[in-house]
Amino acid sequence: MNPSSNLFLIGPMGAGKSSIGRRLAEHFDLPCIDLDAAVEERTGASVATIFEIEGEAGFRRRESELLAELTARDGIVLATGGGAVLAPENRPRLRERGFVVWLQTSIEQQLARLVRDRQRPLLEAPDRRARLEQLARERDPVYRELADFVVEGTGESCQHAAARIASLLERHWQRAVAPKPTT
Ligand code: S3P
Repeated sequence: MNPSSNLFLIGPMGAGKSSIGRRLAEHFDLPCIDLDAAVEERTGASVATIFEIEGEAGFRRRESELLAELTARDGIVLATGGGAVLAPENRPRLRERGFVVWLQTSIEQQLARLVRDRQRPLLEAPDRRARLEQLARERDPVYRELADFVVEGTGESCQHAAARIASLLERHWQRAVAPKPTT
């Protein structure tokens, strides 16, 4: 949604949502919230442990609950998890409560960025490339549908990407002033 006081980052694992989100938040002087970290904090367990004990369905339930809470806030940068767009109830929350930016990336970049990752259960596959391709096929149409703005990945560092995206957003995001929190 544009204008909006919130900035929501969507896109696949390894797109740099958390690192770029942190830098964008600094640039726009807003708090940055990482949805995975919020779920871990609330649950007291890592994403990997939640998947192990409760399965993906349990994780998605917790993710949706936090997403509903966080998208109700004003004046935040929210870095979502790659699958946060899946639950149908999450989509209007993202669409109607923030300026949604899709951080695109290539499978090559994802594989390179995630090469040492052992924390993402969905990457525990014999063929990571095939898994990432399959997720992209399923999810790209949803990212596209939700995005107010699409940023192509160029393979640059997160620092450079964040600077480039910040200047694009200066032009394209009509930033609404967040209402003062009521006490
Ligand atoms: C997931 C992405 C992860 C995390 C979980 C599931 C997904 O977040 O939420 O492992 O379904 O793509 P990142 O996109 O931040 O890696």
